[in-house]
Amino acid sequence: MSISLTINGETHATNRDPLTPLVDVLRDDLALTGAKAVCREGFCGACTVLMDGQPVVSCLLPIASAAGRDIRTVEALSDGGELSPLQKALEQHDVVQCGMCFPGMTVALTSFLASNPNPTREQVKQSLVGNICRCTGYERIIDAVLAHAQAMQGGG
Ligand code: FES
Ligand code: FES
Repeated sequence: MSISLTINGETHATNRDPLTPLVDVLRDDLALTGAKAVCREGFCGACTVLMDGQPVVSCLLPIASAAGRDIRTVEALSDGGELSPLQKALEQHDVVQCGMCFPGMTVALTSFLASNPNPTREQVKQSLVGNICRCTGYERIIDAVLAHAQAMQGGG
């Protein structure tokens, strides 16, 4: 059975088992390696992508459930190689994270800011509970997100 997936605005047909986790199709078939398969248990957030604008863990999302939905990966955040304003803000604030956790965090924060354009520090902190990093602090990330949000409001 062919399943049609819409990934970053493009349609892809796949004959994979309908229960195949979306992250495997992204990484293995489409070379979209931004989403990482780390825990595969829905715990770490490294595989986060957007489905109809909402963050989802693609390690637990069967492709049958992703069919017909608008899937966006971290690769879609930039435009022709130009980083998104949030990505630029994270870079400007020297947010140094590894490639395992950072794509998922960036995707989750993008979705969060779309519905919370002027968040409090606590709200930003809460927005990251599903994205685990065990090696650095979150403070710089939160600083960057707040500065970015303020700038977008015309206050920065
Ligand atoms: S790999 Fe999906 S949540 Fe950890
Ligand atoms: S897990 Fe990526 S910097 Fe800690």
